[in-house]
Amino acid sequence: MREVLTNPQGGYYMKRDVFGREGDFITSPEISQIFGELVGIWLVNEWRKLGSPSPFQFVELGPGRGTLARDVLKVLTKFKLGAEFSMHLVEISPYLSKLQAQRFCYQHETLTEDAAAQLPHYQVGTTATGSKAFWHKRLEDVPEGFSLVLAHEYFDALPTHKLQLVNGKWHEVLIDVEEKPQNKENEFRYVLSKSQTPVSHVFRPLTEETRSCLEYSLETERQVGLLAQRLEKNGGISLIMDYGHFGEKTDTFRAFKQHALHDPLLEPGSADLTADVDFKLVKNTAESQGNIYCCGPIEQGDFLKRMQGDVRLEQLLAHALPENQEIIRSGYQMLTDPKQMGSRFKFLAMFPGILHEHLEKYPVAGFS
Ligand SMILES: C[S@@+](CC[C@H](N)C(=O)[O-])C[C@H]1O[C@@H](n2cnc3c(N)ncnc32)[C@H](O)[C@@H]1O
Repeated sequence: MREVLTNPQGGYYMKRDVFGREGDFITSPEISQIFGELVGIWLVNEWRKLGSPSPFQFVELGPGRGTLARDVLKVLTKFKLGAEFSMHLVEISPYLSKLQAQRFCYQHETLTEDAAAQLPHYQVGTTATGSKAFWHKRLEDVPEGFSLVLAHEYFDALPTHKLQLVNGKWHEVLIDVEEKPQNKENEFRYVLSKSQTPVSHVFRPLTEETRSCLEYSLETERQVGLLAQRLEKNGGISLIMDYGHFGEKTDTFRAFKQHALHDPLLEPGSADLTADVDFKLVKNTAESQGNIYCCGPIEQGDFLKRMQGDVRLEQLLAHALPENQEIIRSGYQMLTDPKQMGSRFKFLAMFPGILHEHLEKYPVAGFS
């Protein structure tokens, strides 16, 4: 999954724009500006409740086309925070990092390989309001400091492992080459590992685990652990938004090509690979690797409605041209309707555990 999505030569994300109607899939921030605006307002509200710490870092993991970052930036500017902040984008794709910079910077520069090797970032830019933006390949390269962290459809793109319980032992499902007779192309196939693999060795199921086959993303666990440690040490707020479950699904690994499901083992690199995020793993990791207070997961539709999305929709409609009204209305409907994206997508917020009592007294917006 890592190779197929992010290999510098043939990786799916590395050299093209895969989003939108002409691409392979469309994401919530691309469907309606209401999404990014409400997430931005949520961040400002929670940041103010913590006493408006300044300066802060606005961090986004896997910003895609940069639409969510642009809409949040508009909110941060509109609210005239009176605080200094820098932007930190964790993006592995050089192609997408340029698209992102074009979305919200008036000027940007990609560093030479030699220069980038000495620094924690590989691209820099400046927004219209003068904030500095930095692009990093990895979360660990983001400087330490109080951070507002967003991750939308990021964790579902990290590699996952398939595990199966056989005679009381976990075995990993691997991908093998099935050799075909001459003149026929070899194909990939799933095989069950006979012996232990590094992942089946380190995997520790939760005590109440009842599934005999599941997906386990070691990389998600590692990055959530890092995020939790950073939040605890430096302070901050994190919002993870993705499609996912709470430790009950067994087989969600799939591919998308031109808005339709596709066989993940066919033509690797030509389709998006994804697996639902296991929010139970995320929550447990955050709470065990840092002293973290988690809210959620809750459904996207509930979050957007509680954040007064309906009111924002009416405002936008009141100012829209008649020919644009239907697209605005149907976009919001798509994000909130439980039969569309409203319930499959989940929101989980993370705060330093030290704020537990404060947040019980002044509850986190959108979560109850
Ligand atoms: C599914 S897209 C989501 C894009 C955007 N957040 C949105 O919702 O429209 C995943 C994003 O994460 C980036 N990405 C994937 N794997 C990554 C990795 N290992 N490290 C950093 N970025 C990664 C991709 O290049 C892309 O920008």
